Parts: sequence; structure tokens; C-alpha cells
Amino acid sequence: MSDGSDNQSSTSDLWGGRFNEPTDAFVQRFTASHTFDRALASHDIRGSRAHAAMLTAVGVLSEDECESINRGLDIIAKEIESSQFDWQVAREDVHMNIEARLTELIGDAGKKLHTGRSRNDQVATDIRLYLRDAIDRILGELTRLQSGIIDLAAENSDTIMPGFTHLQVAQPVVFGHHLLAWNEMLERDFGRLSDCRQRLNECPLGAAALAGTTFPIDREMTAATLGFSAPTRNSLDSVSDRDFAIEFSAAAALLMTHLSRMSEELVIWSSAQFDFIDIPDRFCTGSSIMPQKKNPDVPELVRGKTGRVNGHLVALLTLMKSQPLAYNKDNQEDKEPLFDCVGTTLDCLRAFADMVPAITPKAESMRRAALVGFATATDLADYLVRKGLAFRDAHEVVGKAVAHCVNANSTLEALPLETLRGFHSVIAEDVFEILTLEGSVAARDHLGGTAPAQVRSAAVAAKQRLQR
Ligand code: ARG
Repeated sequence: MSDGSDNQSSTSDLWGGRFNEPTDAFVQRFTASHTFDRALASHDIRGSRAHAAMLTAVGVLSEDECESINRGLDIIAKEIESSQFDWQVAREDVHMNIEARLTELIGDAGKKLHTGRSRNDQVATDIRLYLRDAIDRILGELTRLQSGIIDLAAENSDTIMPGFTHLQVAQPVVFGHHLLAWNEMLERDFGRLSDCRQRLNECPLGAAALAGTTFPIDREMTAATLGFSAPTRNSLDSVSDRDFAIEFSAAAALLMTHLSRMSEELVIWSSAQFDFIDIPDRFCTGSSIMPQKKNPDVPELVRGKTGRVNGHLVALLTLMKSQPLAYNKDNQEDKEPLFDCVGTTLDCLRAFADMVPAITPKAESMRRAALVGFATATDLADYLVRKGLAFRDAHEVVGKAVAHCVNANSTLEALPLETLRGFHSVIAEDVFEILTLEGSVAARDHLGGTAPAQVRSAAVAAKQRLQR
């Protein structure tokens, strides 16, 4: 493998004629991208095979030439896979490394492969092929995570916990309802990534450097061979815009932002103060000094890694900003942020898909937490409304009852009926069932509500949508 030293073929082999002196050794390293864009090698080879087949079909290459190109590319693919490939800095990037090696291997036919093509449409094609595969893998992990979340939700349609606003106890909910909220976020992420995949799935090949080519190419053929839905429509746009990479990173940043919110909740819930869940040991680490510690490193790290994906999104937006048409070398900078967005998002999803279904909810402690903080105060107000009070008046009555409880260190349901009636005379014996946690959640029995029956059917519907 190349170490970037300068004792290899000089750049003038590749763009020969025009130059009077070889490229400066540092400039050669500075402008090279083979150290990272080799991640595109398999896509580059795939694109070259499609291009060669098309050139053959339109009579620009002979069958023999096409065959030896494919044979040479087979060898190159194996060399790269087995790390035997001699990457050369003088050959700058993945495209020229592969092409130059091809010519070494098969001679003149190798030199013909670049007919009617430029690295500009080549790289635009490679990135789209790469990203399409990456999105498919991400969607697979996302689906695995969603499936685990929905199953856990279905198992916890009766598990009562406090619902929060401002991280203060608000109203009781069931744990399954909370989990299905996570699933809603992820389902939208799935939709955004699928949209992005669909929009990027067009083939730039044939745009050549920027204006198209003088050869009688068949763009429909290369597009179809590579599984694109159509060729792109404008050659200038085809080689220049990286909006698809930005769009992907935006979708990835939002997905990571959702994972970071879930992470935050997992961290809080697994603390001794909350004690709502147990995260299995295999997803946690210890402390080198404090023997008692079990730290939720996985969710913390996912929360932290969200920052890099957000950063890459801004990097890509800034990279594209103000670029004139058509291709500019700036675009070589699209790869590292994009690759890291893909790798980070995949790793985080994998960790979550493994970890989330393995967490154990601690129903007793969730329930205990729901009993403090007057979680059923709204239920009492609603009860008074059903007995004829206007909601604002009911709100005031309950506020006074809560203030009394705070002073008396009591809960609403522990007050004697007589005391409760002191706040309003319409209050009767039937008040006690609406003050229970079970009564409170069961009463929110409508589409999108936290009633266990609603959560059970929401989980079934979510699972069905996942399987479509
Ligand atoms: N390595 C280049 C990139 O990633 C390939 C395209 C180079 N084109 C050019 N005209 N210099 O963008």
C-alpha cells in the first residue's frame, strides 16, 4: 500500500502533454484522495463495467475489449479486497488508480475505458451508488430497532410510569406509549431516508466532464444496468450538485438527534434516582476508580456522536455554498464527512437495535414515581367538569386541593372524602376511582391516547406498517 512517498509514477503519466514539470510532491499529496475515496472502489468498478458494456453495445468498444476490461476489473477487485492493491499517490484518486492499474494489466483496451466519460460524472455516479447501498443498510438497522421498540411497547401496555413535561411529573402514561412515541420519530426518519434514496437514484453517467460527450452513448442503458430509475436530465447539474449528500446528512442528523433524545432518557432512567430501567451489563462499562459504578456508556456515546453528524451536515452545506457550476475540486471534500455520517449512523443504530430490546423496565419503581407529584390532578379537574364546573373553575379548585396536600404532606387520593368535599361539594365517593393511576390512563381512551387498549392496538398497527 502506498505511504504517499514520491518514488512512484509521476502525475504526467495521466495528463501527459500539457505540463512542463511534474506536480510538486506536497501538492500531489495535498490534492490526492485515494486514502479515503478507496471506499468507493467497488462502486467505481461497478460503474466502469456498466460504462464498458454500454460503449460495446453502441459500437465504440469491441466485444473483446469489453471482455478484457471486465477480466482486468475482476483482478483489481480481488487485489483491493485482499489489500494487495498498490495505491499510488501519483494516481491521485480511486478512479485513476483503478484505471491505471487496468491498463497495466490489460494494455490498450484499458486506455479506452475512459472514452465518453470523465471523473466528474464517474465520481457523481460512484457516490450515488455508495449512498444508495448505505441507505439500504441503514434502513435495515432502523427497521430492526423499530421492531424491538414496538415489541417492548406491546409488552408494556400496562406498565404505568409518570409522563413528564419540563421533566416534572405531569400525568401518568404507560411505558409502551412512551416507547411508541420513539417509534413515531423513527418512522419519520425512515420516510426521510427513503425519500432521499428515491431522489438520488438517478444516473449521472454520460454527463462526462460537464457538457456531455460526442460519442453515441446510451444513457438509458447505463442507468438501467446500475439499477437507477433514470438518467439525470442536465449534464451541468449532474456533475456539480451534492444536494443528495446534504439531504442524506440532514436526515441522518435528525435520526441521530432522535437517538440522542432516547439516549438522554435511557441515561436518566437508569440512574439510581429514577431507577426506571436496567440496562444489561454488556452495554455498560465500569469505572477505573469507583468500584460500584455501572455507567450507561452506550447511550452516552450515541448522544455524543450526534454532534459529529450534525457537524458533517454543516460542513457539507458550507462546502456546496456559492460553488459555481459545474464541477469544482471542492467537491472532493464531500467524501469524508459523508462516509463518517454513514458509519456513525450505522454503528449507533446497531448499538441501539441490540440494546433497547434488552432493557428491563422496573414496573414497581415507575409506578412509585407516578404516585408522587399529583399526576392525577388533571383527572380531578376533568371529573369536576363532568359534574358541571367550567374547566377554569375546576382548575382553581384542584389547585387549592393540591396546595393543601403539599402542606399536609398528603396525596389527593389519600384525603378523606369529607376533606375533598371541602374543596367542592359536587365531589362524591366515585372520585376515588378517577384518582387512581389505572383509572387515569384508562380514561385516555382515544386514538393517540395512553389507555392500555389504545397502546396495544397502536403497537399492532405500528408492527403492520413496519412489515409493509
Ligand atoms: N477525486 C475527485 C473528486 O472526488 C474526482 C473528480 C476529479 N475531477 C477533476 N476534474 N479533478 O471529486
